[in-house]
Amino acid sequence: MRNLGHSSEGMRIAWAFTGAGHFLRESVEIIGSLRGAVTVDAFLSRAAGEVLAMYGLSRLLGDMAASVSAESGYSFPATARFSVGVYDALVISPATSNTVAKCLGGIADSLVSCMYAQAGKSRVPICVLPTDVAPEIASIAPNGNRVMVYPRRIDLEQAARLREADGVTAVSSPTELQSWLDRSIGRGFFS
Ligand SMILES: Cc1cc2nc3c(=O)[nH]c(=O)nc-3n(C[C@H](O)[C@H](O)[C@H](O)COP(=O)(O)O)c2cc1C
Repeated sequence: MRNLGHSSEGMRIAWAFTGAGHFLRESVEIIGSLRGAVTVDAFLSRAAGEVLAMYGLSRLLGDMAASVSAESGYSFPATARFSVGVYDALVISPATSNTVAKCLGGIADSLVSCMYAQAGKSRVPICVLPTDVAPEIASIAPNGNRVMVYPRRIDLEQAARLREADGVTAVSSPTELQSWLDRSIGRGFFS
């Protein structure tokens, strides 16, 4: 894992980005809104690193997060931080249908699916914002054009299953994610 930034003290969230364009800018902006209240360490899947660059958001994320770490290797030692209490919560936003499927299938062979598994095994609260939350989604392509996306039945089923997963709060919009964060920060993340 390459650490691309710095860190600071206080309440701490691990924020995982996957390779999704939908809800991407909103996710970076929410991290910006948390500055001063909570420290956010960002973790990027390989695809997330590429997609953030396509949308021209890599630098903004670097400015908003305390640190940015990019996926590398196969065993993801940074995920051990969940078991030793470094993080008060894990946020996965935006979450691709690929990563959601891996997480629900118990697969932990990528940075973000391994973070989900290790946070779960350490009983650290998890909040996930999947991209495929409705049968029709109006999204924005990297060139700024509006594009329609029609998630498949399997994508919608996985998003629904996520709502039943132990220790997980599945939200369906950036507004809901912001509310979850505000509530959780108010409670110290422990309820
Ligand atoms: C510009 C761009 C935008 C994408 N947006 C999404 C998205 O919103 N949702 C999604 O499920 N996949 C999206 N993808 C596809 C994922 O990047 C791809 O499935 C990738 O393998 C996911 O890897 P990850 O889950 O490890 O991050 C997008 C790909 C590109 C190039």
